[in-house]
Amino acid sequence: MRLKLFIHCATLLLGLAMPCQALADGIIMPGMEWLDTQSRPINAHGGGVMYHDGVYYWYGERKSDFTYRSPGVGWDCYRTEAGGVSCYSSRDLCNWTFEGIVLEPDTVDTHSDIHPTMVIERPKVIYNDATGKFVMWMHIDNHNYGKAMAGVAVSDSPTGKFRFLEAIHPNEQISRDMTLFKDDDNKAYLIYSSEDNATLHIALLSSDYLKPTQVYTRNFPNQFREAPALFKRHGKYYLVTSGCTGWDPNEADLAIADNIMGPYTSLGNPCRGDDADKTFYGQSTFVIPIAGTDQYVMMFDRWNKHDLISSRYIWLPIEFDHDTPSIPWRNMWSPSSMLNAQCTIHNDNPTAKTTF
Ligand code: DGJ
Repeated sequence: MRLKLFIHCATLLLGLAMPCQALADGIIMPGMEWLDTQSRPINAHGGGVMYHDGVYYWYGERKSDFTYRSPGVGWDCYRTEAGGVSCYSSRDLCNWTFEGIVLEPDTVDTHSDIHPTMVIERPKVIYNDATGKFVMWMHIDNHNYGKAMAGVAVSDSPTGKFRFLEAIHPNEQISRDMTLFKDDDNKAYLIYSSEDNATLHIALLSSDYLKPTQVYTRNFPNQFREAPALFKRHGKYYLVTSGCTGWDPNEADLAIADNIMGPYTSLGNPCRGDDADKTFYGQSTFVIPIAGTDQYVMMFDRWNKHDLISSRYIWLPIEFDHDTPSIPWRNMWSPSSMLNAQCTIHNDNPTAKTTF
């Protein structure tokens, strides 16, 4: 108990002294404000991270600084104007450099699916080795989340600009919370809450990643799962989801499958520690595979529905007991040992102390 109190106080003091999550010595403090390399709060919510040519790129929702409740909508529908998609780059997962708004909202055409009055959420990016294009998928919606579509954009560079192509209903089905997954065989999949959030669909994308194919499966029927985050380890697929309670937290679930398309079997809540039953007051968004290693980082958002731009990020290493993952809470941790492992694997001369 005393140790817990000490850690809590030390965390608070550190937080007061240095109000940022990523400290100079490479410490991540889940749930604390996280500043970029220009000392500005990182604005990349509902995000995903892509690793490309030695660099991690973090894409996320750019929230505007005014949160309001959508007028005339019966439920707790808080929103900001859609600010497009931000991108930050890093080599160490701690220090992130702002690369700009890589998908700009369309402020001119009031009928555009990416007009600021719309919703642009949960952007994810993958690279297509065959076309040489970076492909972004995202949740597109209107002010009351009634349109429920998936949007796609494309770029020649990881830092944009991305060109918005279209918003669609994949296979004529509605699509809200979503993620993307690129498998080892270069096939890619769109994973999205469908059937009015009741059932999670997994759809194979076309070889250019720009369209869904008609090959898709229905998963967790009538279980109302959202916020999907998928990763692969030792040939098994793991899918973290949340329940559907708007911006408010609920209990996470982690399911396992031998095939990306399912069937998935629930392993229960992977979170461990205080407030694990509320996902540490967060909601899943993505799992970062650390390149060249067997290690993974879970990304959650801790939403602040009354001031969405001030929502925080909770990043935690995933631990494994054989094939069973768990996500214990940590007040602070350093990804450097994970990255050092990467050096050991990739470095031809293991005594050289190069980073990447
Ligand atoms: C829960 C989703 O996971 C979020 O991305 C967002 O769409 C909110 N619902 C809106 O209430």
